[in-house]
Parts: sequence; C-alpha cells; structure tokens
Amino acid sequence: MSRSAHPAGPRHADVLPEGHYAAPPADLNALDPKVWAQTVTRADDGVVSVGGIDVKALAEEFGTPAYFVDEADFRARARAWRTAFGQDADVFYAGKAFLSRAVVRWLHEEGLNLDVCSGGELATALSAGMPADRIAFHGNNKSTDEIHRAVEAGVGRIVLDSFQEIVRVAHIAQSLGRRQRVQIRVTVGVEAHTHEFIATAHEDQKFGIPLAGGQAAEAVRRALKLDGLELIGIHSHIGSQIFDTSGFEVAAHRVVGLLRDIRDEHGVELPEIDLGGGLGIAYTSADDPREPHEIAKALTEIVNRECDAARLRTPRISVEPGRAIVGPTAFTLYEVGTIKPLDGLRTYVSVDGGMSDNIRTALYDAEYSVALVSRTSEAEPMLARVVGKHCESGDIVVRDAFLPADLAPGDLIAVPATGAYCRSMASNYNHVLRPPVVAVNDGQARVIVRRETEEDLLRLDVG
Ligand code: LLP
Repeated sequence: MSRSAHPAGPRHADVLPEGHYAAPPADLNALDPKVWAQTVTRADDGVVSVGGIDVKALAEEFGTPAYFVDEADFRARARAWRTAFGQDADVFYAGKAFLSRAVVRWLHEEGLNLDVCSGGELATALSAGMPADRIAFHGNNKSTDEIHRAVEAGVGRIVLDSFQEIVRVAHIAQSLGRRQRVQIRVTVGVEAHTHEFIATAHEDQKFGIPLAGGQAAEAVRRALKLDGLELIGIHSHIGSQIFDTSGFEVAAHRVVGLLRDIRDEHGVELPEIDLGGGLGIAYTSADDPREPHEIAKALTEIVNRECDAARLRTPRISVEPGRAIVGPTAFTLYEVGTIKPLDGLRTYVSVDGGMSDNIRTALYDAEYSVALVSRTSEAEPMLARVVGKHCESGDIVVRDAFLPADLAPGDLIAVPATGAYCRSMASNYNHVLRPPVVAVNDGQARVIVRRETEEDLLRLDVG
C-alpha cells in the first residue's frame, strides 16, 4: 500500500497505519455498493438518499445520530439466504445482530426462522408473532427461568451448551410434561480466522462442549437417556466475520464424524446439523464477502460429501446468519460537530454519537468507512479519524478515513454497514441516549425503535 504524504491537510506519512486507507480513494463522492445498502444513491444535487428519501429530510425528521435500515434490502438479503438453502434446509436469523418487532415480522414474512439467546430476545420474537416452533434458543448460561419460558412457549429447539444444561432442560421439560427438541453445541477445535473475541470454536473459551476427549460423545450419551429431551442434532458455530469456508469444512468434517460415532454406538442417525452463522460482510471496499448461494452450495457440498463418506443419510442443514443479513442494510447518520486538525497527524472529526452507538471499533479494532452525505465536495481528501462525544480517547467510530478537507460543522456524514451489532450493543455510556432505528422503504420512513429519552433514563433511576 502506498504511504505517500497527503496532498492537503495534515501530513500523515509517518503515522498512517498499514491498510487500505493508506491512499485516498479516487473519488470521495462515490458510494461503493459493496458497503452501502441497496437503495442508497447520491442524487444530482449531491445529497444521498435511501429508500427514496434523502438524508437531509431524514435528519430533519428523525434527528441524528440515527440508524437507517433499508427494508427492501433487508428483505432481499433474507430471501436470498432462504432461496439459496432451499426447502431442505433452515435459515435461522441470529437475533443478536439486531432484533426488533418489525424485523421479526419481516423474517416471518420472508420464511426465515429465528435464533434467540436471551429471555429478552425470546419475548421480542414471541410478541411480534414468530411461531415458537420456528425459534431456536441459544446461550452458554441460560437461566432456569429462561429455559422454563422457552420450553413452555414451545420453541423448536434449545441448543444445549453444557452438561449441567442437559439435566436442567430435561427436568424442566419433564416438569411441564414436554419432550423438548434439543441440539448439542460442540466445539470442534477450529481456529477461525477472525478477532479472538468473536472466534468460538477453539477449545479455550466458554461455548459448547468439546469434541476433544470424548466429551461431546458423553453429552450425547446422557441426552439420549433423558425422557424430557429429544436429541435432534449437533450444532457448531465457529466464529464471526469469517470470509472463507475452510473453517466450516473442518467443522462439518468433525461434526459428521460425531454423527457417525453416534450411529455406531447408539444405532441412531440424528436428523439435523447446524453450522451456525459467522459469514463476513464488507465493512470497507477491501472486503470481499461471498454471496449466499455460493455459501449454501459450498456448505451443502461439504456436508453431503462427509455424509457419503460416513455412509450417513444427509441430515437437514441449518445455518444462523445474523450480520450477513442485517449488517449491510443500515448506516448510521451523524452530524459533524467539532473538527480538530492536528498538524502532522490527522484531523479529528467529532460526531454527535460514538462508542455508545458503535462499540465495535473500540472493542474489535473493526474497520469502517464513512462518507459525506449531505452534499458533494470537490475539496482535497483529508486524513480523518471520526470520533464520538464520549469521555474517552478510545471513543473512535472510524479509525482512518478520508473525508473532504472542506468538511464543516453541520455536515452530515454516514457510516455504512452498521446494521449488525451496533444498535444491539449500544449503551447509555455518559448518559448518552441510544439512537432510533428508522426503516425506510419506497419513499416511506418509520421509526421501528424509537430514540431513547431522558425520561427513559430517569425512569430506571429510582434512588
Ligand atoms: N449463531 C451463534 C450460535 C452465534 O453465537 C452467533 C454470533 C451467530 C449465530 C451469528 O453470527 P453472525 O452471522 O452474526 O456473525 N458482537 C460481535 C459478534 C458476536 C457474535 C456472537 N455470536 C461483532 O460485533 O462482531
């Protein structure tokens, strides 16, 4: 990558980290369709719009910061996953990426199932009419109350994550006179190529039951003996923001190996296999994610091949994409506040949100891109760091980005690909109010999660 000095603004050659932002893009006004939601365009007047509504009008009506979700794009991506996997597989959207009642309805209408991992997500799903048998319940430490509610509601499956939970779910199911469908989550020992905090299949972490040392086989033995449980399959989730399918290949190989051992030991062929989620998206132009149909083809082929080799009937496959469905469909709109050029370094551009609406940069060193969206500019590119309004120097939204040198307070800038794990991980740090989520579709915009208010904050503070 070029590390040439910057044409205008601060010189940065000595401090610029390696990466794709080492050189400014050819056209700062261009919007790369890889990172922006499908209906996002820039009109002749220079203003960017989504779903047919321009961002100035959106900012006027809903304020900033705010997340705007392109509903048509969300539905199209959900459908693409559904279609890619066809009738012989199930797609469970991972609600942790972003969940609201509107999203539940979109998923239901598009024929997807839903993965939840807390009582709160379960309540949201049920209250928006997702049929319980299309819900999977996850988590490494489900409370007794959560398990009780899930079984009582009739969820399609509970994914068992520990030896204690096998017994706990069986007891609760029995006490309710039910036989709960369950999968066992195993850790296959795969090192996924992703950030340590979001890799989940290596052995030294909290999720699942290791295949290693026969622990998963022992879990299966115990589950098969309990009347309250109907063991329907094995689950594996190897991590998040993964681009290549080699990790899934190893995971499928090992999970199918377990299915074969189960058949040999118990004479049962478990009918399902879940390969989890974790498929990566483009946060910047440097990322090249694969299309759902390519992923579906690759995963189906891997499982078929492994099952043929083990002489097993191919189980029904399910997957749990979260980020790959919702991530690219939204952007966060901010108003530019103070601008501080630091000579020889870079220009700090402060926005009216920050780590409370996007913790991913601080937590995972995530990379994002950013664009001036309320107008075009022909000014020289300026090396910028987009930061928030919180009392921390780690409060960074976009670590390295080029913005036009004539950027001014009051301009609107937008950070694309913030649909996943931004609102769902948002906080009230510094008593900053969490932004709304606004769905935009075909010239209509409607709030699906409203902006938090100071009354909301004070309502919780009962001291
Ligand atoms: N299934 C299971 C069992 C999971 O634990 C997860 C994510 C998913 C599916 C969905 O993964 P996805 O397709 O969205 O990558 N906060 C982090 C990501 C944590 C993911 C946790 N589990 C981030 O912002 O990158």
